Amino acid sequence: MSLRRMAIWPTLPPDTYFRPPSNFTPFPLDQENCRIFSLARHAIWNACKTIGLKEGDVILVPAYHHGSEIESLIQAGLTLRYYELNEMLEPEEEELEGLIDESVKAFYIIHYLGFPQNVKFWKEWCDQHHIIMIEDAAQSFLATYDGQPLGSYGQIGVFCLYKTYGIPDGGAVVSTAPPSSPAKNQSSGMWRVFKRHFNWVATHRPELGSVHLVFSPALRWLKKQWDRPHQEFDLNDPNTPASKMSLNLLPKLLSEETAQIRRDNYTYLLKHLVDVVPLPFRDLPDGASPFAFPVELENPENFLNLMRKKGVMGLLFWINPHPSLPVENFPHSKKLRQTILALPVHQELNKTELDQIVKAAKEALYALEYA
Ligand SMILES: Cc1ncc(COP(=O)(O)O)c(C=O)c1O
Repeated sequence: MSLRRMAIWPTLPPDTYFRPPSNFTPFPLDQENCRIFSLARHAIWNACKTIGLKEGDVILVPAYHHGSEIESLIQAGLTLRYYELNEMLEPEEEELEGLIDESVKAFYIIHYLGFPQNVKFWKEWCDQHHIIMIEDAAQSFLATYDGQPLGSYGQIGVFCLYKTYGIPDGGAVVSTAPPSSPAKNQSSGMWRVFKRHFNWVATHRPELGSVHLVFSPALRWLKKQWDRPHQEFDLNDPNTPASKMSLNLLPKLLSEETAQIRRDNYTYLLKHLVDVVPLPFRDLPDGASPFAFPVELENPENFLNLMRKKGVMGLLFWINPHPSLPVENFPHSKKLRQTILALPVHQELNKTELDQIVKAAKEALYALEYA
């Protein structure tokens, strides 16, 4: 049986090279104080240095995080103070009030999966306490809150461009005190471009998708052998620029329709799978630009294995916290790591592919229920 193979990462259509540059230049790319590095972690490290945060300054950070953003804050010399999130994945003012003292100089807030936090409220709260707000919009490029772009409320806003478009890399930062642009030699980005094209073909051509599915268990096994714990958090050289391919292709990919297509795809999946969607993601708020479609299950591994056999490469989301987190002190975040997985929702998916995701998910849920 031929199956399309889909992952949460946006693919790169082969016709991209023939497209003219877009007239659409969304925030933060239209800002004079925007800088682009290879990865968002590089952008965070540099922005912390230029905004005036000093060695030992305390920053409030969420216990539910990727880990690489935490590593870059530590490498920038900051001292972390973790906070928990409530049922809606929001910070709780009461908890934060208990954590704040004169040593606290910054507050780090993450917009999860392209869904906006109430940043207006949090910016006012930071201003009252005379601390800097760092807005992590790594998963939320193109999303808005109250009509204003995410990442524009804080003194620093950070974005992963490659999470929204099929480019090899690109971590942008906008800051009231912008760092210098990275001056080193750029890599070409060719290998990652090839992978993104390959994924495009595997998504749209079931013949290739099926071949990939035959080899993917072996590839996953090999990758696991090479991985060392927490490798994915490494900062590496913070002055790494974005690759040539990313900067060349991004202007051809930018589109005013991207966020709306992601929203439409999300709405379609939500209509069929709402029962397994975590509470904070059951309604699509105005301005969201979904990065992935979250599913919450007690045993996500079994579900993911069944989905993979049907061509849907979901992802166990943020399973490993940064090693600096005292995991047991943050039970809600711990539970989120054990139970939330992500499915594809990106703008390159068509109706046939969305239907394949819905069908695979329904069959997997049915199989698990009656196992
Ligand atoms: C919330 C968040 N912040 C920051 C980052 C760091 O992004 P990068 O991998 O581009 O350094 C990630 C990466 O996944 C992330 O999910």
